[in-house]
Amino acid sequence: MLDDLASARENYTRGGLLEADLLPDPIAMFERWYVEARDAGIHEPNAMVVATVSASGAPSARMVLLKGVGADGFRFFTNLGSRKGGELAAEPRCALLFPWHPLERQVRVDGVAERLPGEDVAAYFATRPRGSQLGAWASPQSRVVSGRDELAASYADVEARFAGEPVPVPPEWGGFVVRPVAMEFWQGRPGRMHDRLVYRRQAEAWTTERLAP
Ligand SMILES: Cc1cc2nc3c(=O)[nH]c(=O)nc-3n(C[C@H](O)[C@H](O)[C@H](O)COP(=O)(O)O)c2cc1C
Repeated sequence: MLDDLASARENYTRGGLLEADLLPDPIAMFERWYVEARDAGIHEPNAMVVATVSASGAPSARMVLLKGVGADGFRFFTNLGSRKGGELAAEPRCALLFPWHPLERQVRVDGVAERLPGEDVAAYFATRPRGSQLGAWASPQSRVVSGRDELAASYADVEARFAGEPVPVPPEWGGFVVRPVAMEFWQGRPGRMHDRLVYRRQAEAWTTERLAP
């Protein structure tokens, strides 16, 4: 059924990325590429892979939604008691990946995650649809549950508990800002001669270098 995998490949011809194309600030460069991904109609261009490691060094990766980007880095929200939440508490070094393959691009970020202050978490939580707010209370993210029924009962409980009032931020819920130490902009090229330009933080400045594809 999957016997065509070995021959499944694209030749990347959409563009190139030259040193002269880089903006001095990698966050500004990211914003430029993000706008291009969004304007190209990429589905959920703010979906990014977050890779973490356990205390014993076992890696794990999952998608989350980027909910803000600024000079300090990349912000996302999650359950702090989840697998990723626990891993980031013990080892804040992590990696992000934006897989914008319709543009034959990816952006990789190596960084350090820091907990967002409670007021930022509350401000974002207040913007979520009520259903998502209730879901955040009802779901002990990443923990084993007995089945769908347990989750439905838990959701019904919180619905009743907060009926007619605003839903407060659950105690386990929070957010992180990932402060980048390196950011790679990758653009596919014909013959696998892709462009890879990497920014690296050196004290307060950024240097750039090209990596072989
Ligand atoms: C497109 C997409 C967006 C997601 N966004 C989030 C998010 O913003 N926060 C979150 O906690 N989980 C999000 N998830 C679910 C996570 O991928 C994951 O299942 C969950 O966070 C538990 O991961 P963990 O057990 O490694 O902590 C998203 C999943 C997908 C596919």
